[in-house]
Amino acid sequence: MSYAEIYRRSLADPEGFWMEAARAIDWTRPPSKALWTERAPIYEWFRDGELNACWNAVDRHVEAGRGGQVAIIHDSPLTGRIARLSFAELRDRVARLAGALVRAGVGSGDRVILYMPMVPEALVAMLACARIGAIHSVVFGGFAAHELAVRIDDATPKAVISASCGIEPGRIVPYKPLLDAALAEAAHRPDFCVILQRPEAEAALVAGRDHEWEAFQAGAAPAPCLPVRGDHPAYILYTSGTTGQPKGVVRPTAGHLVALHWTLRNIYAVEPGEVFWAASDVGWVVGHSYICYGPLVHGNTTIVFEGKPVGTPDAGTYWRVIAEHGVRSLFTAPTAFRAIRREDPEGKLIRRHDLSGFRALFLAGERADPDTVAWAERQLGVPVIDHWWQTETGWAIAANPLGVERLPVKQGSPSVAMPGYDVQVLDEGGHPVPPGTLGALAIRLPLPPGTLTTLWNAEARFVKSYLGHFPGWYETGDAGMKDEDGYLYIMARTDDVINVAGHRLSTGAMEEVLASHPDVAECAVIGVADPVKGQVPMGFLCLNRGCDRPHDAVEREAVALVRERIGPVAAFRLALVVDRLPKTRSGKILRGTMAKIADGQPFRMPATIDDPAVLDEIRAALGARGYPAAG
Ligand code: COA
Ligand code: AMP
Repeated sequence: MSYAEIYRRSLADPEGFWMEAARAIDWTRPPSKALWTERAPIYEWFRDGELNACWNAVDRHVEAGRGGQVAIIHDSPLTGRIARLSFAELRDRVARLAGALVRAGVGSGDRVILYMPMVPEALVAMLACARIGAIHSVVFGGFAAHELAVRIDDATPKAVISASCGIEPGRIVPYKPLLDAALAEAAHRPDFCVILQRPEAEAALVAGRDHEWEAFQAGAAPAPCLPVRGDHPAYILYTSGTTGQPKGVVRPTAGHLVALHWTLRNIYAVEPGEVFWAASDVGWVVGHSYICYGPLVHGNTTIVFEGKPVGTPDAGTYWRVIAEHGVRSLFTAPTAFRAIRREDPEGKLIRRHDLSGFRALFLAGERADPDTVAWAERQLGVPVIDHWWQTETGWAIAANPLGVERLPVKQGSPSVAMPGYDVQVLDEGGHPVPPGTLGALAIRLPLPPGTLTTLWNAEARFVKSYLGHFPGWYETGDAGMKDEDGYLYIMARTDDVINVAGHRLSTGAMEEVLASHPDVAECAVIGVADPVKGQVPMGFLCLNRGCDRPHDAVEREAVALVRERIGPVAAFRLALVVDRLPKTRSGKILRGTMAKIADGQPFRMPATIDDPAVLDEIRAALGARGYPAAG
């Protein structure tokens, strides 16, 4: 079937389309129907089916005689270790940890927070939760203690599973002190913590609360897979919104598995048994969908990579991993390729490796600039596929479905809508606009299976922030356009979210932190263009009247404060003290105009600006720091 036929059918007959896709999943009770509309505008899929995610990701492959196949390859240039785990070994490890969690009182529906580096145990812990119906919430290791505390208070976990440390180039990041600080800050008290001791840094354990990973599991009986209902949350994953309170995206189990399974062959073009690599982190949605669940459910070998595209040890690491492990498809963020290209513009390191088995590169997480895509295509000689999605959707909204057919590529476009996504560009009034016209990218409800159904503890916020603006539609938060052939172009966010090295961050959250500095009266954070990271945050600070402290001291403290409160992942290094912020007459800060000035882009003077002279002051302050940067 062609892409066009598949897509048409998915919209004309969603029931038939997704019930057919659901046959690829093992159910203990098959669903009686696919779509449940009773709670519209909240739509649910496969609600009355019963299944277990861990069974589908692990056990069923062992039962089918594929227990000897490698399930997980841990490749860690940061520690110099490579390890392999077969599906049978993975099942045994997961069942044992699951058994120990049950023994310690964790049951179906209980939350477990995971704060883990890129080690196979991170996947073992995710799957162990899934095995017993516990809901995991993975927190990215680059977040600071405060961010972890916010998530602990929202998810109210029964347990936290963590490790003694993560490893970043040139430094060991002790996780345990961060966890201890988060637990001291949080109002909620988990019953216990399980800590994986890594040889690079042993953590001190709190007696009675913390258990060492192995000791915790000693003598535990392996737990069987507990079937859960189709709408049972597989996980909560917090993502940045417009404020410091992150949004807990809830992913129901059944739709998640059905949709991901469909994508592995049809988008990523891999067959069961082949090696699939998503070079991301378990703390992001890409890690959930394409390091853990997607490839395993589909019977692929997945790679847990603990390293960076450059510097571990060089810009040839990706090629070494692809050649050494026989990777068929790689999924990463464009920023990784910009970093590699900067170090190895002629691709000399690429030619040192045998990449004959490599078939396709997939990019997402931020805009894939045509320059980087063209470079990658030239250097690798394989299709380079840009695709567009977000934490909320859990899988691609738009892509070039390589496993179905390779559609013509259009530069700057992540191609076309995937099954079940009726993507339209809307004007302010919520009306679809003609091709080629800019507007808000929205998806007609219902969203397909695998997407979020609510925000944890915040259904009203879910409805208001995603479904409220355009009734009958899901608002993606991205602006863009569609051409005559249905190709989508993603241009900008319509909210305060910025994308730093493929990591989604909230400028609003950074402003909340900066505003807490005792000398700061008012502030604004914008994203400015960066040649490697795509965007980096820049903060403008207005100091309290009468504050005569040196500006550079306050700026340094502001940078340190964001690192301490949000974490190093925010990459917040640019803070500027200014006298005034540009505002509209009604007092709205003109962040977009400031960003355009910082990037050296043309802009129209906002008609509602209060005092145009403030823009000259901002231009001068930026100029003193070398912005707009040349090129
Ligand atoms: N634990 C602790 N700290 C972490 C961390 C983790 N898991 N991940 C990142 N950090 C820290 C880094 O050490 C760095 O700290 P520093 O300010 O002391 O240098 C900071 O957070 C920023 O990290 P990062 O975004 O990785 O930037 P970088 O400058 O170290 O590397 C790239 C730049 C482009 C190589 C890197 O961003 C990268 O590999 N990007 C790939 C994108 C990606 O995986 N995206 C996921 C979505 S698909
Ligand atoms: P995240 O939730 O972290 O996956 O971030 C999702 C956001 O990243 C989207 O809403 C977009 O703003 C951006 N994004 C993701 N993929 C792409 C892409 N292929 N092109 C442009 N922007 C993208």
